Amino acid sequence: MSVNWALPFEERIIPSKYQSKVISPSTYKDLHKIATENYREFWASIASQLEWTRPWDKILDETNPPFYKWFVGGEINASYLAVDRHAKSWRKNKVAIIWEGEPTEGDKPKDIRYLTYGDLYREVNRAAYILKEVYGLKKGDAISLYLPMIPELPIFMLAAARLGIVFSVVFSGFSAQALADRINDAKAKLLITADGGWRRGKVVPLKEIADKALESAPSVKNVLVVRRTGNNVNMKEGRDEFFDSVYKQVPLNVYVEPERTKSEDPLFILYTSGTTGKPKGIVHDIGGYMTILHATMNWVFDIKDTDIMWTSADIGWITGHSYIVFGPLLEGATTIMYEGALDYPTPDRWTSIIERYGVTILYTSPTAIRSFMKFGEDTYKGKDFSTIRLMHSVGEPINPEAFKWFFKLVGKESIPFGSTWWMTETGGIMISHLPGLYLIPLKPGTNGMPLPGIDADVVDENGNPTKPEERGYLVIKKPWPGMPLTIWGDPERYIKVYWSKFPGIFYPGDFAVKDSDGYFWILGRADEVIKVAGHRLGTYELESALIHHPAVAEAAVVGIPDPLKGEVPVAFVVLKVGQKPSEELKKNLNDWVREQVGPIASLSGIYFVTKLPKTRSGKIMRRVVKAVLTNQPIGDVTTLEDEASVEEVKKAYEELK
Ligand code: WT7
Repeated sequence: MSVNWALPFEERIIPSKYQSKVISPSTYKDLHKIATENYREFWASIASQLEWTRPWDKILDETNPPFYKWFVGGEINASYLAVDRHAKSWRKNKVAIIWEGEPTEGDKPKDIRYLTYGDLYREVNRAAYILKEVYGLKKGDAISLYLPMIPELPIFMLAAARLGIVFSVVFSGFSAQALADRINDAKAKLLITADGGWRRGKVVPLKEIADKALESAPSVKNVLVVRRTGNNVNMKEGRDEFFDSVYKQVPLNVYVEPERTKSEDPLFILYTSGTTGKPKGIVHDIGGYMTILHATMNWVFDIKDTDIMWTSADIGWITGHSYIVFGPLLEGATTIMYEGALDYPTPDRWTSIIERYGVTILYTSPTAIRSFMKFGEDTYKGKDFSTIRLMHSVGEPINPEAFKWFFKLVGKESIPFGSTWWMTETGGIMISHLPGLYLIPLKPGTNGMPLPGIDADVVDENGNPTKPEERGYLVIKKPWPGMPLTIWGDPERYIKVYWSKFPGIFYPGDFAVKDSDGYFWILGRADEVIKVAGHRLGTYELESALIHHPAVAEAAVVGIPDPLKGEVPVAFVVLKVGQKPSEELKKNLNDWVREQVGPIASLSGIYFVTKLPKTRSGKIMRRVVKAVLTNQPIGDVTTLEDEASVEEVKKAYEELK
């Protein structure tokens, strides 16, 4: 467990602007109970608000748990819902996507693009034409998208969705190796990338990285390269083509009919880190996913046609998939996407986005808030946040200081501000203060309560509900729309990771507390996954990168608390015989890990030791390492092979602290 902010928060807040929506926690609990007991019918009533090409025959197929299928027999197309429907309505000239590239001239962004629903419709159809007619892709094929935050990213996601082509977005901060692993696992036939992307005034050479990845990713037959930064790139004859030159050949106003995709067809694969092994390809369906997005856009974000929604995440993560692209567009809202960083070139990049476009709904993260805090309140004096009427945070527990600072500065202590709990696997938000539906009084620091229809609970090691205020494991006891279909290519692993700790119920891997009012406090990961700036990293991935280095014999990586990033990884490394510890080798190892995994995998400390705490059977006891570093009781060490190893870890850490 990384943090326990739970205790300092005692207040309950009723934001003045949402008073009419307030209900008491106990009334909410009664409503929640009714919905959740009748969860099939309840979710069907939400799903029926969407447009189905063919109605479903059965709400939920439960014949082969945990491989639940929602709305079987139903036909629904995510691209049609998010684009065509609005382009055919009065929303045709409404702005769908506002895009802002990284500013290069002070606060004046060079690149801004407004895409109306009409524009989006044209672009998505053209992109679909390219996928279908130029590359001959069809329903069930997989493609990988390794793109910066530019409009072509959502355009190709929607184009793929239109055709039932399964897309896998790979975050543009990942390295060649990580990209290759993901392409290979998905068996992607086409890779769409860019010459580069802008980040903090520098070009991230995406095509160059992609070329390296493709050396060991043979499934990719074609590469489509979007020009963004204009830097020189190598183009492989017969394999690579520039998007603009292909685009020119697409007939104007081409219409590509949406495929009649089934509710339970896969929409996308998104890779996420687990405790062991390579990243897991979480597969989401269409009907269930659209349903949870529709529900949460309304209940959690209170979305209206006049809203300008800004989710300050990257589309490479689930937050971006759900709440930059599919959620807002499904509702016909205006969504903002930006390239670059929130505090570059000046600390007020983020406030300038809010002011320039008049953001009304803001979805951000504790790590972003903490990075703003460090510039001090004066930096943001006189900034106009008055358009914002609702905001939420996501990614990790929010600490009291960050909550209060942001609530006062941006929220003027009068609008809802919650910490929504969910994860890549859940597809959409599961636990929230639900200001769009009813507002249970805000209890800062908590995540609120499970959505209607979501049967979440906190249980002990034996699966029995814990007493109020007692720490246990978060679980979800009933299927929900938006749940994964499986892990791509590895259904056994899907069962093992999520459905085996407590047989028959879903285990997300978080510690949690339910308080006496029924509010949930998610405390942090219960496994060896760490959250660095809200991003999920498996310590195992870092360790395996380290032990692939020729100088390294063994490595243990653990997360330690960090005031800015929430958690950061540190490594304890045993060198091979004959290797000498040195500062240079440390730097070397850090570069190596960044190269293998990506810049997000920066180790904040590397410590050389001669042995690691292990069990007698040879398993590294990361729990013990972590306890030493965080000054926690070490706990049961009866299986420890050699106590001196613990002392060594302690000494190595303290000497360099
Ligand atoms: C893990 C999932 C889904 C969006 C971003 C992260 C942690 C997420 C909260 C929150 C406390 C949170 C959990 C979870 N987490 N939101 N509001 N309060 N913890 O998605 O990368 O799949 O990570 O993020 O530990 O298991 P993800």
